[in-house]
Amino acid sequence: MSENFDVKLDSKSYLPDPSVKEGSWMQDYETAYNEFLKDPEKHWENVAEELEWFQKWDKVREWDHPYAKWFTDAKLNITHNCLDRHVLNGKRNKVALIWVGDDGEEQILTYRQLYREVMRFANGLKSLGVEKGDRVCIYMPLVPEQIIAMLACARIGAVHSVVFGGFGANALHSRIKDAQAKIVITADATLRRGKRIDLKTLVDEAVVNSSSVEKIVVLRRMTPQLELFSEIEVDFYEIMEDVEKECEPEVMDSEDPLFILYTSGTTGPAKGIVHTCGGYMVGTYYTTKNMFDLKDNDVMWCTADPGWITGHSYIVYGPLSMGATIMISETTPDYPDPGVWWSMVEEFDVTILYTAPTAIRMFMRMGEEWPEKYNLSSLRILGSVGEPLNPEAFEWYFRVIGKEKCPILDTWWQTETGMHMLTTAVGEPMKPGFAGRPVPGIIADVVDENGESVPAGTGGFLVIKEPWPSMMRTVYNNDERYCQYWNTIGNYYAAGDLAVKDEDGYIMILGRSDDVLIVAGHNIGSAEVESALVSHEAVAEAAVIGKPDPLKGDSIKAFIILRMGFEASAKLKTDLVYHVRMNLGPIAMPSEIEFVESLPKTRSGKIMRRLLKAQELGQDPGDVSTLED
Ligand code: PRX
Repeated sequence: MSENFDVKLDSKSYLPDPSVKEGSWMQDYETAYNEFLKDPEKHWENVAEELEWFQKWDKVREWDHPYAKWFTDAKLNITHNCLDRHVLNGKRNKVALIWVGDDGEEQILTYRQLYREVMRFANGLKSLGVEKGDRVCIYMPLVPEQIIAMLACARIGAVHSVVFGGFGANALHSRIKDAQAKIVITADATLRRGKRIDLKTLVDEAVVNSSSVEKIVVLRRMTPQLELFSEIEVDFYEIMEDVEKECEPEVMDSEDPLFILYTSGTTGPAKGIVHTCGGYMVGTYYTTKNMFDLKDNDVMWCTADPGWITGHSYIVYGPLSMGATIMISETTPDYPDPGVWWSMVEEFDVTILYTAPTAIRMFMRMGEEWPEKYNLSSLRILGSVGEPLNPEAFEWYFRVIGKEKCPILDTWWQTETGMHMLTTAVGEPMKPGFAGRPVPGIIADVVDENGESVPAGTGGFLVIKEPWPSMMRTVYNNDERYCQYWNTIGNYYAAGDLAVKDEDGYIMILGRSDDVLIVAGHNIGSAEVESALVSHEAVAEAAVIGKPDPLKGDSIKAFIILRMGFEASAKLKTDLVYHVRMNLGPIAMPSEIEFVESLPKTRSGKIMRRLLKAQELGQDPGDVSTLED
């Protein structure tokens, strides 16, 4: 983007019921923000003091652009703060986790039970030879064991790399390979709308030519029980049988890696975002407490899968470090009927609901009668994440679900940021379409390509100007790629999003500035889909764009040049869609395929997706001076 553009802003605002502020952790946004500005290090140090450390830090932060260290030389284990701290301080019998399965089955674990399961599974992993620093890939359905596996890794200092269970074999393979995972933890199958979807078979495919993998741990939920190949496959619960009950937490340095989580980029394969123990713990704890305003009697339901950053931060580490009751569910929003989520809110007295705009838009379509059947009065706070919450969806969420009382937190953040960056604090005026203002602790701005702030009402790049504790520390195996985040726009962290600010400092996200697609709130790299397409024998070249979709945000359209000897047909289109599904998973499937003779390219040979998109949407293509032909 070379020139700035003006954006017409409608700053209509809404207020939640004033009572939501009673007893809130952060009494006043501006006071909190100004306090932070006075002494940023003190701000974060105060947060860290609320948690338990085996050894305190020398320095709060060390900043050697673009590398940051937080709480240097401090020692901790995040699971001590998520488990031991609560078990030892009177919350032993508090419910930690409520799980509801696709078929309505329920499971409830208290903090004591979760603690015991985690320690035993941690010892089980040790018995397989897993040591501090080893990478463990977790590819599971949304079941309590997925969280147990994550925490068990963290307990012993193994670095987990959770791969969302909806990804296909190739996506899994490349993630296993990049991380050189020693163990893969999986399950026989996942359930979706009453149907069984095999996971283990995809793992079998994915581990071919993955020489790092020594063992596959399999959770067997289905009958008849899946047979294991005993040389390398072991049962999830069997490894917990003959081990010690107790497992002391590994003493981790603040800057030791906690996990790797892959996210799609503009070019090339997915990037392994690395988060570390100390800063990530502080950031997720802080935002769960202050932005969700989480209290001891809350029941927090974040509808994401733990396989995404939203799940890592706001199902697992943030809420558990606060000692909260979390709810997770394998259910889909419309099965067995479109009231299932609301029935669960009623049944379990959910107080904080955190979901995605795509789900909200789906509920809007299904009709108000479904939520109206249930008593939703337990709800206190509503959140949204993953893509812009459009004003229509905001208004519906506020009115139909929140009964014009609950604050709506449209939270903008990323896998890379680890925690919320922008939102509207509880009780502050909310502006539909705007994510809101920076979380106290974060300095965000909208700037031009040189890093100069642009005036209110002018679009630009969204940047974060100063480091923060839960920022990613690097891209696994790719430091250079990491540096690009901080070296592209005026030495600031460039989020890759376009945004605009209004007179009150509220920020609206306008979309990506690169070729990352946001399909139903999930990041999909156009390059990944293209390379999946090109791996099909009929495809010579492929280009993929996102088209605005009323439900999903973006839907994927692929333009294909066929190889000699292949003919365009409806059958071939279906084959190609299926091919992408098997490679990358259902979320990356193109909704439209068009066979073309040529693709617009720059003189250096790069496909100009921007041009394809403009053509497709009947828009002005902008600057085409680099076009080859
Ligand atoms: O484009 C923004 C969009 O999702 C991207 C980050 O994707 P991911 O790393 O998968 O993390 C998603 C969950 C934190 C961002 O660069 N995005 C995320 N939240 C919002 C959003 N766009 C607009 N509004 C949001 N609230």
